[in-house]
Amino acid sequence: MLESEKSATFAADFYKLKEKNRNMAGYLSGDSRKVTTHRLIEMKQRGEKISMLTSYDYTIAQIVDGAGVDVILVGDSASNVMAGNVTTLPITIDQMIYHGKSVMRGVKRALVVVDMPFGSYQADPFDGVRNAIRIMKETGADALKLEGGEEVIDAIRRIIGAGMPVMGHLGLMPQSINKYGTYGVRAKGDAEAEKLVRDAHLLEEAGCFALVLEKIPADLAKRVASELTIPVIGIGAGGAVDGQVLVVADMLGMTKGFSPRFLRRYADLHTVMTDAIGQYVADVKSSDFPNESEQY
Ligand code: KIV
Repeated sequence: MLESEKSATFAADFYKLKEKNRNMAGYLSGDSRKVTTHRLIEMKQRGEKISMLTSYDYTIAQIVDGAGVDVILVGDSASNVMAGNVTTLPITIDQMIYHGKSVMRGVKRALVVVDMPFGSYQADPFDGVRNAIRIMKETGADALKLEGGEEVIDAIRRIIGAGMPVMGHLGLMPQSINKYGTYGVRAKGDAEAEKLVRDAHLLEEAGCFALVLEKIPADLAKRVASELTIPVIGIGAGGAVDGQVLVVADMLGMTKGFSPRFLRRYADLHTVMTDAIGQYVADVKSSDFPNESEQY
């Protein structure tokens, strides 16, 4: 086969695959109904995997929602990704509310979950309820996510009791990084694994509508997903769970120097953006930009 024929065949296959993928996306399948906590449980029941990504601002949230992602997490990873902090601990309730509001303006279909930041629910369950109400009222988000099991179960019960849906988060819990001292895989030993399973059941019994499991052995995550009736969404927890979540800036390749095994990069936006900005700088310096058609 000639080189030109090979590349024509490659292009045809590429566009067929692209079309297939486009048709699989929620926004083109005709199912533009708002995703609810109830629909996520139905998805688990019929074995449909749940897609979840973080977003922190209006522009990215619009793209993520338009591409058919089921759940958007306004993660406290905004502390790292947006503010450049080393951990998630410094982000405040006001800052989470700002990110939550910005995301909500861009979303039509996805369920939007906002992380309750460190310090907003651990000290006192009643404080937790007051802060949860504030976040829900001021952002208009659909649900909240809290890290922890037994230690914070009172706050979780009361928040759910006050009418707010809660997503749990076990395994690696970045708000406890100072206790662990490392971002390594959690629950590798029997004692921690058994506690995690007990906590997962506690969260389901308390009324959580879903659970995130971060960076734990795949077999343990599989066990939890099969024992719970609520959807289990994994990040670094293998494929035998009910859905996957990634940090949007990581999967788009905007961040550099962070490459855990679980992270699949779907683009290299760091290079794309650096090249585009470098070209802009060169065009300004050489007076190529703006040209006659780019002025009034
Ligand atoms: O804040 C965050 O981005 C998260 C995900 C890693 C699940 O909690």
